[in-house]
Amino acid sequence: MNVLELIEQAKEAAKYSYSPYSSFTVGAALLAKSGEVYLGCNIENAAFSPSCCAERTAFFKAVSEGEREFEAIAIVGGKDGNFEIPCPPCGVCRQVMSEFCSFDFKIYLGTDTDEYAQYSLGELLPASFVLEE
Ligand code: THU
Repeated sequence: MNVLELIEQAKEAAKYSYSPYSSFTVGAALLAKSGEVYLGCNIENAAFSPSCCAERTAFFKAVSEGEREFEAIAIVGGKDGNFEIPCPPCGVCRQVMSEFCSFDFKIYLGTDTDEYAQYSLGELLPASFVLEE
């Protein structure tokens, strides 16, 4: 699975985005070390706080099916499904990634074109909180 294929899957996931309140459509494709890909979209709620980001949807689907080790995630996001600009994961999603992924976990931010931005988790969440002495 190459990067552009993973980004394409994130765009497919974004088609299921439930975002009537923000119209901000997000899709994520999470590649586990097993080779399986787990898709997620953002799912909003009238009460706002129960909403869930696309990245966490993908992680929670994967972990709930037994996956614990991950290679990479591709993310696309934008208003009304317009992915002109790379959409970085929010702080809460970065923290969830840090629970299961090492600093070299790859984060690809796709766009409408073949251009994408690439980061590691260590770059996006340095000095992260862990429950270790
Ligand atoms: N959103 C995500 O799905 N992932 C992020 O990392 C940032 C924000 C969603 C939440 C909400 O449904 C919409 O984007 C606007 O904030």
